[in-house]
Amino acid sequence: MIDTGRNAALAGRPEGLEQLRTLVDFALGALHDASLKRGGPVVAGGPGAAAAAMGRFLDGGAFLAESPSPRRVTELFEAYAAGATDLAHPAAVSRMQCAPTAASVAAELLAAALNQSLHSWESGPFALHLERRLIAEMASWAGFGAGASGTLTPGGSISNLMGLLVAREHALRESGEVSRSGLTGLRVGPRILCSAAAHFSVARAAGFLGLGRDAVVPVPVDDLGRMRVAEARRVLDRFGLDELPLALVATAGTTDRGSFDPLPELADLAAERDVWLHVDAAYGIGALFSPSLAPLLTGLDRADSVAFDLHKFGWTPASSSVLLVRDEQHLRCLDQQAVYLNPADDEAAGFTALLGTSMQTTRRSDAFKMAASLLTLGREGMGAWVDRCHGLARYAAARITAGTDLDLLAEPLLSTVIFRCRPPARGVADENAWNAAVRRTLMARGRALVARTKVAGPDGEPRVHLKLVFLNPATTEAEIDELLADIAAVARELAEAGPDEGGNGSTYGD
Ligand SMILES: Cc1ncc(COP(=O)(O)O)c(C=O)c1O
Repeated sequence: MIDTGRNAALAGRPEGLEQLRTLVDFALGALHDASLKRGGPVVAGGPGAAAAAMGRFLDGGAFLAESPSPRRVTELFEAYAAGATDLAHPAAVSRMQCAPTAASVAAELLAAALNQSLHSWESGPFALHLERRLIAEMASWAGFGAGASGTLTPGGSISNLMGLLVAREHALRESGEVSRSGLTGLRVGPRILCSAAAHFSVARAAGFLGLGRDAVVPVPVDDLGRMRVAEARRVLDRFGLDELPLALVATAGTTDRGSFDPLPELADLAAERDVWLHVDAAYGIGALFSPSLAPLLTGLDRADSVAFDLHKFGWTPASSSVLLVRDEQHLRCLDQQAVYLNPADDEAAGFTALLGTSMQTTRRSDAFKMAASLLTLGREGMGAWVDRCHGLARYAAARITAGTDLDLLAEPLLSTVIFRCRPPARGVADENAWNAAVRRTLMARGRALVARTKVAGPDGEPRVHLKLVFLNPATTEAEIDELLADIAAVARELAEAGPDEGGNGSTYGD
């Protein structure tokens, strides 16, 4: 007998809604219990404990077992919640991964239940209009006019890829349509300029687009981590006749320091040299909502394309990212007519969709949860939360400076704080390994999730630093004090224990 009710109801049917209600109720309970039991941002025990939890859950069984077992679904909920990272925990400060608003999570549930898509009109008529309107509104945030367009994407990396895809079509238009004819026979070497602090997705995009990672020319940064415009100009001047600058990528909010490249000067340079200006504001878009930080984005309206995420500042579940173009004509290279999806006569009759602005075919409605967060918070609320995160970063930096255990790299620019553990007077064998081990120990004990990065020291050698990323406006100053005290205590403990005997001398007991 086909079971479409008791065990395996479809969410959209009445019996499915009943089942959904029961399951959601259970899931919320599991979330609550998990956060009480965990007692920290992640379960203690590190990778071994996480793998063991998975092993315990499956216990030799399989997901596609012969007979169905609805009970296993609720057990999976419990195990997943118990083993998850709690992004709302004040010591979860390692990633640009926000805790989402309750409204956006509810919208995500509804979106999943309805499973709308943007690739054909009948796949989700309201979702289509919602995305169009949201994109138009986001384009106006960037200062773009009515001729702008864009598309929602699975993340900042893909938004950057799409920005550079569009730039590639534009820059190489005289060689024909690259998306049709390919790059073979190209007589010029395309180049992409970005700051040395730009996100790695820029170089990956160059690789994906057939330009090669070596096409990316990193431009040195100043002591605030911003691209040096004079250096960018020098790089452009030095290009030979067989080199074609395809795009200038400015970062508005770099991943480590939160630095903003000087957009007005870079826009001038791009205009002067007729080069596409793409702005990666994946992280820095938060500044836009804050009246005091918004000037950091002055000049954004002069970009040809802009990428930003609302799954960082925006408090919306991933994926919530957008690629905007100032002139909708530039998305033409994504045009697609598929006889089974959007035949011309259907389109002429108004049954249009968004297949031709995306790299995807079936595509979920991310606009829904984004709209839910924006409606819940409003511009004022978004700005207040961004300001709060900025303030928390500044507070943490001030406490680091006032203490004796940690060394601050520089004043925070947005909501990240970079520092290093200060070695005790008798020193440690390897400061890089020691700092790295502090992070791993905190993680393995389930105490705190802190990021790491490398920053060049006075001798130019990259040195391991630790990083805090504040995206949780509910965090308190007292919780930051506790976090910093924890980091310092673990650092002292590992310094006293010294490097592991028998290893390579650079692992500190983690
Ligand atoms: C500046 C910048 N650009 C792009 C990205 C990539 O974003 P995503 O992880 O959404 O792909 C990040 C991620 O941290 C980032 O910091």
